[in-house]
Amino acid sequence: MAHAAMRGIAFLLYLLSLFSFSIAGDSLTPTQPLLDDGGSGNLVSAGGRFELGFFNPAGTQNHYVGIWYHNISDKAVVWVANRQRPINGGSGRLSLASNGTLIVTDDNSTLFWSSSSSSSSNRAYSPVVTLRDDGNLVIRDDPNSDSVSWQSFDFPTDTFLSGMIFGRDDSSGRNVNITSWASTGDPAPGSYVLAMDLDGVPQQFLWQDSEQVARLGPWNGVYLGGVPTINSQDLIDYFFMVSSREFIYWYTVRDPSVLVRVTVTPQGSGQVLMWVEGSQSWISQDSYPRDLCDHYAQCGPNGVCDPNGSAICRCIQGFRPKNPRNWGVWGWTDGCVRKTELDCRNATDGFFTFSNVKLPDTSTSTVDWSTRSLVDCRASCLKNCSCTAFASANISSGSGCIFWTANLTDIKHYNNGFGQDLYVRLARSDLESMSSGHGNKRRVAVIVVAPVLATFLLATAVILLWRRRKTRNNKTTDHHADEEAVEEKNLDMPLFDLSTLAEATGDFCTDNKLGEGGFGPVYKGKLKEGQEIAVKRLSKTSMQGTDEFKNEVMVIAKLQHRNLVRLLGCCVQGGERMLIYEYMLNGSLDTFLFDKDRCRMLDWRMRYNIILGIARGLLYLHHDSRYRIIHRDLKTSNILLDKDMNPKISDFGMAKLFSGDEIIGNTKRVAGTYGYMSPEYAMNGIFSVKSDIFSFGVIVLEIITGEKNNGAYHHNLLGKVWSLWKENRAFEIVEDFIHHSFPLDEVLRCIKIGLLCVQERPEDRPEISLVLLMLGSNSSLLLEPKQPGFAVIGDQIDTDSSSSKGALLSNNRLSITIFEGR
Ligand SMILES: *[C@@H]1O[C@H](CO)[C@@H](O)[C@H](O)[C@H]1NC(C)=O
Ligand SMILES: *[C@@H]1O[C@H](CO)[C@@H](O)[C@H](O)[C@H]1NC(C)=O
Ligand SMILES: *[C@@H]1O[C@H](CO)[C@@H](O)[C@H](O)[C@H]1NC(C)=O
Ligand SMILES: *[C@@H]1O[C@H](CO)[C@@H](O)[C@H](O)[C@H]1NC(C)=O
Ligand SMILES: *[C@@H]1O[C@H](CO)[C@@H](O)[C@H](O)[C@H]1NC(C)=O
Ligand SMILES: *[C@@H]1O[C@H](CO)[C@@H](O)[C@H](O)[C@H]1NC(C)=O
Ligand SMILES: *[C@@H]1O[C@H](CO)[C@@H](O)[C@H](O)[C@H]1NC(C)=O
Ligand SMILES: *[C@@H]1O[C@H](CO)[C@@H](O)[C@H](O)[C@H]1NC(C)=O
Ligand SMILES: *[C@@H]1O[C@H](CO)[C@@H](O)[C@H](O)[C@H]1NC(C)=O
Repeated sequence: MAHAAMRGIAFLLYLLSLFSFSIAGDSLTPTQPLLDDGGSGNLVSAGGRFELGFFNPAGTQNHYVGIWYHNISDKAVVWVANRQRPINGGSGRLSLASNGTLIVTDDNSTLFWSSSSSSSSNRAYSPVVTLRDDGNLVIRDDPNSDSVSWQSFDFPTDTFLSGMIFGRDDSSGRNVNITSWASTGDPAPGSYVLAMDLDGVPQQFLWQDSEQVARLGPWNGVYLGGVPTINSQDLIDYFFMVSSREFIYWYTVRDPSVLVRVTVTPQGSGQVLMWVEGSQSWISQDSYPRDLCDHYAQCGPNGVCDPNGSAICRCIQGFRPKNPRNWGVWGWTDGCVRKTELDCRNATDGFFTFSNVKLPDTSTSTVDWSTRSLVDCRASCLKNCSCTAFASANISSGSGCIFWTANLTDIKHYNNGFGQDLYVRLARSDLESMSSGHGNKRRVAVIVVAPVLATFLLATAVILLWRRRKTRNNKTTDHHADEEAVEEKNLDMPLFDLSTLAEATGDFCTDNKLGEGGFGPVYKGKLKEGQEIAVKRLSKTSMQGTDEFKNEVMVIAKLQHRNLVRLLGCCVQGGERMLIYEYMLNGSLDTFLFDKDRCRMLDWRMRYNIILGIARGLLYLHHDSRYRIIHRDLKTSNILLDKDMNPKISDFGMAKLFSGDEIIGNTKRVAGTYGYMSPEYAMNGIFSVKSDIFSFGVIVLEIITGEKNNGAYHHNLLGKVWSLWKENRAFEIVEDFIHHSFPLDEVLRCIKIGLLCVQERPEDRPEISLVLLMLGSNSSLLLEPKQPGFAVIGDQIDTDSSSSKGALLSNNRLSITIFEGR
């Protein structure tokens, strides 16, 4: 079933059963209901773009009335009537009651949904409902009039279409917003809402269960401040209108042959999706949030978030961390405070121009449209002692100004030329110290660079020594800081008690030890309630472990997918740092694949499902979660298997979070596992989603062959598969005992996909979305793989090292940390 479901849907957002093509009208009248009969009576809009009818998501008995694209292969449901109350089975009917209400009932006449419309009591004409070519379903009381008594555009579900109005609609007084589906196959309202916030200066927010999680910013005359590239100049025009009681937003698409929809996914990502003629799937034009800085108020009051900065958060100039100790360990929520208080009465304050920013939260700010220029804005702000900052309200015309009177929250700094100027009020002394710093920059740089370098090196050494001593002598303060860091981050994650864990694991008894990882041992445990857990206990001395610990907590706390191992909580107490995971009954994939006896338990179907599951988990990491995540250490020992042998990707200690448009990273410290590392990563430290794809390819080939790619020159699995492939003998490499029981074309397709993933040039390797598409499609459609890349670094690396501790090797060009046998 999973296989059937895979066909062609890798990229599809919604799984739908097939609809038979029908030639139907675009209207319903009270005398002709629409039945759930396989689509023959479905409405199709006059231009053939949209279709209305019943659908039921694959694998369920739930039937819904919906609107979707009529004539494309990925039909994408854009509106659902009875999203809260599905009909069980195919007995539904959609009809227009003679009083002008559209209703969904089943054959027992149970009411499942009704439009809130009602026509005028004067019933001279009979009402009619029409599906328009923009996807709007409208009810008119009088077929000969344009007056609409109800329209679906006023009640969007998860999709914002061109022609809809988003925001507070003056006529109805409603705040029109969109709510995600609960999950891919379930249109019920999910956790995420994209809505306009009308407090202060209106701005868009992404909400999660009535909490603001990301702010798209106010409209600045050209774009939403937090989504600077969303105005794809050549394709989509966005509009915004502000009047005394109306704050609305809409868009138009210039090329009528291009389909565009804006939606919020069940995972909480706002997406602008596009379909052009000849597409196989919807293409994401833009997505939001893009990076950690889009997380609302990431850096606390008066903090600045810079996704490209080394520390993510810093203070606005003239401000300092309120709580420096927490600030140093990623505890940013306290934010920053002024170095020098303002001196309004003596009128000595001035303004610092902060360029290229997403304006701070405007929910407590005010806008003055009568102000003509920035000079006037400045004067008004100076006059008012509670004014802390101002900015132009419309960067296109330069008119109007926004005034802030409180803390400045949720500022993001762009270093790619986007964003606008924010004028922050500062005390004279802070401004002066800043400008003197600027004026003498060049000379100062020359004079101080050498001493500064020396001081820096010295300071680093001192800090390292001090930290090490501190861990040894004064564990309580150190772990206290850790504890705070974890709590400050507001991770929404249960903190486990050390005593609970000690009890669960029999005091970390060696009998319960599942294995030894690079950062410490992993124990099996059982909580009082009977739940089985795996506890990763970080070695107390490893400094490296601290960073990886934070990283793992930060990364995985944000993720949830059935092919990722779930973090249940963490424990920072008494100098201990532990991560608590759901327990995976069947351990890691390598213990099956490379074991003479256990490998027989994996037949082809299981292996195929494991490949599919890993690919889905990776798709989530690379594309579907709210952040782009590169795992950097994919290998069979990091793939865990649950009791049903479903694969789950684990170990995010080295994962990197990326902003949406950023695709390549570079690191001086190459860390990963030899044999799975792509050449460009192993040799130059360049990593991207394509280095994960390489590792994935190696895993696929290992799953098929049951052989380990240990990377040594004389025994390289990739080389072996490649040479057999070239001679059309690839099937010979398939693990012996599955040899007789597999569909040859499917296995060959997987080998080919594996080879495509390990190609030498990263740009030749497919994206994971394409991999999933290929897994579900006919092999003849695939490209021909080119020669695989070999990460041959030379003899310095002892690949036979079975040590479980990290080994640090370096030459003058690179340093590689290898963690084996976790
Ligand atoms: C549907 O699409 C096909 C192929 O793209 C085209 O030939 C056909 O005319 C389209 N039908 C309608 C009703 O738009
Ligand atoms: C319709 O009513 C009959 C009898 O009252 C009941 O057995 C049946 O389950 C109902 N069907 C649905 C879909 O509710
Ligand atoms: C219109 O008719 C439907 C079905 O008969 C009924 O459920 C609904 O309450 C009526 N609406 C109004 C406003 O009378
Ligand atoms: C979204 O719209 C609904 C219906 O108008 C409203 O009840 C809800 O408060 C809105 N949500 C937000 C976050 O504005
Ligand atoms: C501004 O931020 C500071 C520092 O976190 C905080 O103490 C203060 O209460 C905030 N003031 C307002 C008005 O929110
Ligand atoms: C204004 O300036 C005077 C002297 O320059 C200083 O003593 C006084 O504290 C200042 N007023 C305020 C409110 O800071
Ligand atoms: C200062 O600005 C705030 C917010 O704009 C406003 O409420 C207040 O009335 C202003 N005070 C004066 C003295 O203008
Ligand atoms: C901003 O200025 C432009 C150009 O003058 C104007 O067309 C637009 O309507 C203004 N936007 C708002 C929100 O006032
Ligand atoms: C971060 O830097 C990259 C490369 O310089 C750039 O493309 C990207 O837009 C930057 N991101 C932000 C938010 O400034």
